[in-house]
Amino acid sequence: MNNIKIVKADKSHIPQMAELITQNLGTCNLIKGANNDVMARNIAELTDTVDYYRVAIDDNGTVVGLCGIGEVKSDNDYELDIGKHRDVLYVVVSRDYQRQGIGTMLLKSCLKDIHDYPVIYEAWGEIKNGDVNSYKMLAKCSFDLLADMGTSFYRDHGYCPYCVNKGKNCHACFCKIYIYK
Ligand SMILES: CC(C)(COP(=O)(O)OP(=O)(O)OC[C@H]1O[C@@H](n2cnc3c(N)ncnc32)[C@H](O)[C@@H]1OP(=O)(O)O)[C@@H](O)C(=O)NCCC(=O)NCCS
Repeated sequence: MNNIKIVKADKSHIPQMAELITQNLGTCNLIKGANNDVMARNIAELTDTVDYYRVAIDDNGTVVGLCGIGEVKSDNDYELDIGKHRDVLYVVVSRDYQRQGIGTMLLKSCLKDIHDYPVIYEAWGEIKNGDVNSYKMLAKCSFDLLADMGTSFYRDHGYCPYCVNKGKNCHACFCKIYIYK
């Protein structure tokens, strides 16, 4: 593997982080009612939350991956009895760098500072891929499946109109909730 370092994210990383999210994630994960300018929305969101993130950078300082864990919260979008917890924010690795252990390294690095409450991960994936994209990474990081929200969770919660693959079947995405204790 190229010489990859994990560092705390700062403001200078935001444009590259937003680009990675925009290019690599279905926008099903977007907040209901968000506008359709995905890149602008990602920049705005990261500007508020950058302190929670770590990034993987290569020798040139290029951001090739990112992961964040948010602050403690009590409510959740899944009607699950979780109590206080933290959410994993985005985990994304650039396509050219996937399957080299970077996602696992990023998530483990973010988890090692969390000692108070369980960490919840909303895992997303397209049905055609057989499972959520991150299932192996989550197993490597000791997450357990907490709830399978089914394949219409995103549609039922109003996300799909904002999906980059707008025309596709709304039962095309998994949503599974994982927990790390
Ligand atoms: C999911 C993601 C973050 C994993 O990052 P990564 O750096 O590729 O992960 P790792 O190399 O640490 O992989 C851990 C395991 O997951 C596997 N894996 C990686 N991407 C996968 C995918 N899309 N589908 C299935 N398995 C995958 C790897 O092969 C590896 O397993 P192995 O050791 O048995 O080969 C990355 O593929 C990604 O950014 N995908 C697009 C965005 C996304 O889906 N994010 C998660 C949203 S919930």
